[in-house]
Amino acid sequence: MGWYTTNVVPRIVNLALGSAEVATLRRRVVEGLFGEVLEVGFGSGHNLPLLPEAVKRLRAVDPDHVGRRLGAARLAASRVPVDFVGLDGQSLELPDASVDNALITFSLCTIPDASRALCEVRRVLRPGGRLHFLEHGLAPDAQVQRWQHRLEPLQRRLAGGCHLTRAVDRLVETAGFRFERLERFYGDMGPRPMAALYLGVAVAASQQMALPQAR
Ligand SMILES: C[S@@+](CC[C@H](N)C(=O)[O-])C[C@H]1O[C@@H](n2cnc3c(N)ncnc32)[C@H](O)[C@@H]1O
Repeated sequence: MGWYTTNVVPRIVNLALGSAEVATLRRRVVEGLFGEVLEVGFGSGHNLPLLPEAVKRLRAVDPDHVGRRLGAARLAASRVPVDFVGLDGQSLELPDASVDNALITFSLCTIPDASRALCEVRRVLRPGGRLHFLEHGLAPDAQVQRWQHRLEPLQRRLAGGCHLTRAVDRLVETAGFRFERLERFYGDMGPRPMAALYLGVAVAASQQMALPQAR
């Protein structure tokens, strides 16, 4: 990774995703989380102060140490203890069925193999555990999609590998989840190609379909 991606991108992301508009959406996605929660793509910890009382511990995964430093004040003030348990959501260093719930916000766009990360989340969720997600991705409208395809190469270069055209609903379903809740809408945080949002809660479709143990 170059200097720009390592040092500048996390600062831009920290500012862009630290707005009051985004915090309103974050409050909605964390609703209902409890127990031990895995967060894939911790970033600078914007979700941390918003976690419900019922969350007892956060297990955080993210390769970005700069983001973590930017979130130092949130970490220091956090009521919820945070363990950093790995650097890569695509290969979680956690046993099967070891967390109550999982949280992913604005990270499926950037994780190189988002499908693999979702399968890993499914593997480590306890039976009945839920994935709460808030993501941007492929827009519902063809005209916006065309812009997303045009802009994606630039976006990937400028925003640390962030994709605009990932169909988050398909990715989540294909990883073996079924939706308990799924909302799609345009957020206020930017132009439509960057703000086509997916907010939802999903549960493993069936315990019988569980993936073979990865390790
Ligand atoms: C746009 S930021 C979002 C950060 C945070 N989730 C938020 O909502 O503010 C995307 C995050 O995904 C992280 N990420 C990238 N690749 C990853 C991977 N393989 N595993 C886990 N996190 C990853 C990045 O380091 C970055 O912190």
